[in-house]
Amino acid sequence: MQQLNNKQILLGVTGGIAAYKAAELIRRLQDFGAEVRVVMTKGAQEFITPLTLQALSGNPVHYDLLDTEAEAAMGHIELARWADLVVVAPASADFMARLASGQADDLLTTLCLATDAGIAIAPAMNQAMWRDSSTQANLQTLIDRQVAIFGPGDGSQACGDIGPGRMLEAATLAEMTADQFQSRELDGISVVITAGPTREAIDPVRYISNHSSGKMGFALAQAAIEAGASVTLIAGPVSLATPDRVQRIDVESAEQMHRATLDSLAKCDIFIGAAAVADYRPATSVKQKIKKSVDTMSIELVRNPDIISAVASHKQRPFTVGFAAETQDVVSYAKGKLVKKNLDLIIANDVSNAEIGFNSDNNAVTVIWNKGEKALPTASKQQLSRCLLKEISQSYKENQAT
Ligand code: PMT
Repeated sequence: MQQLNNKQILLGVTGGIAAYKAAELIRRLQDFGAEVRVVMTKGAQEFITPLTLQALSGNPVHYDLLDTEAEAAMGHIELARWADLVVVAPASADFMARLASGQADDLLTTLCLATDAGIAIAPAMNQAMWRDSSTQANLQTLIDRQVAIFGPGDGSQACGDIGPGRMLEAATLAEMTADQFQSRELDGISVVITAGPTREAIDPVRYISNHSSGKMGFALAQAAIEAGASVTLIAGPVSLATPDRVQRIDVESAEQMHRATLDSLAKCDIFIGAAAVADYRPATSVKQKIKKSVDTMSIELVRNPDIISAVASHKQRPFTVGFAAETQDVVSYAKGKLVKKNLDLIIANDVSNAEIGFNSDNNAVTVIWNKGEKALPTASKQQLSRCLLKEISQSYKENQAT
């Protein structure tokens, strides 16, 4: 199973004999479906060449904070944003000390400060260095800051000592990396998500639609699976692969999406309407292709059912989350929709900005509920979805408790 499908792992390699195991780790992470980019410290390059890790990862290796050429290609802030998780393996005693004291004196420590992604480290060092009170104090600081600690293992060491400080094997580290994405926040919860556009037929070859790619809804489905939910994804016409373990129902029109959604409510705790449903459809869809016989023509449109309003007023009403795609006064229009459609939570999406929203890989939103709001800055739709799922699950649980 590709537990790390679509995941972007920034692998930091620091100086230590276990650096050679980083080569194997890249392979194991890729086996799980991850894309890997490597950042090496100066010390790491004494143990293994950047060329080896570049060839294995298929991406240029980054090592210099002050290299203008590398910064122009993918700067350190961009790299920090790119990562879904930073894994430092091996993490030397020196690196742990620098990370714990918040230093930014090389590219790797700077990235660790700049990233919003989680950080995991796989310590590797001599057993006496590991046991030393300074290292143990640094370890505690890192644990307190939610850095995940992978290992170390116990056993014979390159220096001839026996004891704790061996870096875990690559296969184990890859498993532990995958576990970082499993939050269990929505264990036992059924989530239904709509995604993508709908197509409203004018004739057999023409339709009315919009620019939704489905990326946002599919990323939410993936994040919900990782959070332990069982997920039904009702997808309009999009060309995206179905995330593992997601039950997908393909539809074309708003009416079909409406029917599929109502049918899914028998087993639905949380509904998320991420689809860009066409508000109108042609009053009649003709059976044969319309010929170009006149200079102008008009198409009469009729309202489509409002799917999310139907969900929110259903007798089996789930916790109901909508999106609001707006081009101006985004938050205030979204608040209006929250009330009008009787939603529990709404995600306001500024679709006037081509860098985010429709068909882009990134998004930035404001989450709004009746007691507050929270802005989530630009991130990949995958990263953003994990944050959104946290907000949704918290709000859902508060709602259940009242
Ligand atoms: O698919 P992507 O390319 O990744 O782009 C993501 C997105 C911009 C499509 C998505 O994030 C988004 O904003 N989706 C909602 C788009 C939309 O239709 O917004 P709206 O403000 O028109 O609708 C408000 C809510 O009502 C939405 O939850 C919508 O799904 C729902 N709706 C709207 C009309 C309708 N007839 N039935 C509905 O259920």
